[in-house]
Amino acid sequence: MSENFEDRAREALAKPKNVGEMNDADSVGTVGSPDCGDMLRMWLKFTEKDGKKVIDRASFQAFGCQTAIAVASMATELLKGKTPDEARELKPNELSGDLGPLPPMKIHCGQLVEQALKSALDGKEAPSKPAVETLAGNLNQAPTGKIKIVPLDEDTGN
Ligand code: FES
Repeated sequence: MSENFEDRAREALAKPKNVGEMNDADSVGTVGSPDCGDMLRMWLKFTEKDGKKVIDRASFQAFGCQTAIAVASMATELLKGKTPDEARELKPNELSGDLGPLPPMKIHCGQLVEQALKSALDGKEAPSKPAVETLAGNLNQAPTGKIKIVPLDEDTGN
């Protein structure tokens, strides 16, 4: 395994795992970072093992930095077999798995994954019919809040 975090993240990005919408998910969570504007959605599918509810599979979509994608890839692998309570306890530096501890500047990228996971565990979003199909759809949707649209000045020559 590579010595430094950046190289390990690059290796994880070369073959990200569990990317994409899960059609048969039991739960989905979407979060956006107010700091950097990145977004991440995570789907969870549960099963029962030894009488306990555990995560069978997890997948994700990201409009985010490479670190968020690399951590989400690791996290969706290591979530398999965890109970919801065990999953909820995982901190960003644990969700990053083989990537190792996140550099201080990248902690919030891991927190984006942590929050998407918690949101999915809370199960407040409808898993089968999200308001829009993809994160790209989210971005293309008409804004609903109080947003002031400022037209760009086309005539910049004067
Ligand atoms: Fe936004 Fe990493 S910079 S999640």
